[in-house]
Amino acid sequence: MRVETVITVDGPSGTGKGTLAQRLARHLGWHFLDSGALYRITALGTEAAGIAPTDTAGLCAFAARMDVAFATRFAGSIVLDGAEISDQVRLEESGAKASIVAAIPELRAALLQRQRDFRQPPGLIADGRDMGTVVFPDAALKFYLTASAEERAHRRYKQLINKGVDVSLRSLLRDIQARDERDSTRAVAPLRPAEDAIIVDTDTLTADAVFALACQHVDARLGLRGA
Ligand code: DC
Repeated sequence: MRVETVITVDGPSGTGKGTLAQRLARHLGWHFLDSGALYRITALGTEAAGIAPTDTAGLCAFAARMDVAFATRFAGSIVLDGAEISDQVRLEESGAKASIVAAIPELRAALLQRQRDFRQPPGLIADGRDMGTVVFPDAALKFYLTASAEERAHRRYKQLINKGVDVSLRSLLRDIQARDERDSTRAVAPLRPAEDAIIVDTDTLTADAVFALACQHVDARLGLRGA
């Protein structure tokens, strides 16, 4: 059986991994998995359904049956049970809620096959925390993006202020540090680079520079120059 090629892009939030993953998907004309969105949707959907984050069986049953539609080829709208929830999914507080349910091993197991099902022709770019370590350990190419918590908070601050959202840099930094701590110390699939990942520190790199660097690796390793 032919196994489709996967490129993984992992790292903490605010490193530009979502931007890189989406650009690679568009560049190659491949599918795109936003695994963080699956955790965010599970957190929001269970909350709306009155299922407590401590109700592991309830969370898993919801994750197994939730009817989610992504504009998978490129990042776009997210529809849960017929309702458009893209804006809500991308809120800071939804990321924090996702990080809490994501620490539950049974829920991670319930979402594993769902994520693997995104591996479809002609190929997949998978964005997350454990794409290269757990979900697609056989990926052809693995990127792990890093950046200091201060730089990531600063980037997020600029994004939110530009959108007209009133936030404090200090509270953003505190939230990022709390989420990093939770994501990297959990017992199952903690945030860490795969042994064979290419580590890219994006502190001093623009999004264009990160994309150009990634394309060099894609070309060198896979001989793919884009669609
Ligand atoms: O990438 P993101 O900010 O959308 O992710 C939201 C949370 O979901 C993140 O804090 C941890 C969790 N997550 C995870 O545990 N594993 C993944 N593959 C993706 C996200």
